[in-house]
Amino acid sequence: MATIRKRDLPVDASRRFLEPGPVLLLCSAHGDQRAIMTLGWHMMLGYDLVGTYVWEDNHSHALARRSRECTLNVPGVDLLDAVVGIGNCSSGEVDKFRRFGLTPTRSREVSAPGIGQCHAILECRLHEARITRDYPLFVWRVLRLRAAVSPALPRTVHYRGGGRFMVSGGEVSRRRLFRPDMLDA
Ligand SMILES: Cc1cc2nc3c(=O)[nH]c(=O)nc-3n(C[C@H](O)[C@H](O)[C@H](O)COP(=O)(O)O)c2cc1C
Repeated sequence: MATIRKRDLPVDASRRFLEPGPVLLLCSAHGDQRAIMTLGWHMMLGYDLVGTYVWEDNHSHALARRSRECTLNVPGVDLLDAVVGIGNCSSGEVDKFRRFGLTPTRSREVSAPGIGQCHAILECRLHEARITRDYPLFVWRVLRLRAAVSPALPRTVHYRGGGRFMVSGGEVSRRRLFRPDMLDA
């Protein structure tokens, strides 16, 4: 099999290769305040645990920290302009539900609302916070997951840095190559 020719890149370009997860909208609420932020930096840390990196400067950081709850919402490509807009203004200055025409939905397990226009909503409670100067890491336990009945596979957006996004495409199966005990449903 042929090898692929490579070139050196600055290490901070690593994100372009390692950031494949869908961009999310994180909603939080505390008292009479609510926030939405765009979130590209997240990872699964177990079947029902998700880690998110939320900078301290974001209004969402304070609300998530105080309320210890959030919803993680999965937007489709149809919401891409809103996704960028939400990531470029502060909930401390504007109600992003109103500005971007989004519908807050009532959550069952947490006080933070979901976003009606998103494909899936994960209601989360804080499991652990590893907040240092370098790592504002929230680890969330997913208490409830709701996803659209159709389409089964939404066209999600994946941030590659520099204002560019990858849009998810088709699905391919390699089930036959998996050991049965390595497969989930
Ligand atoms: C594509 C994209 C991805 C982003 N990913 C993150 C992220 O992973 N963590 C973070 O703290 N901010 C991230 N941001 C920035 C926040 O969304 C942005 O600072 C937002 O205005 C915060 O809103 P808030 O002040 O209402 O919380 C991202 C922005 C964009 C556009």
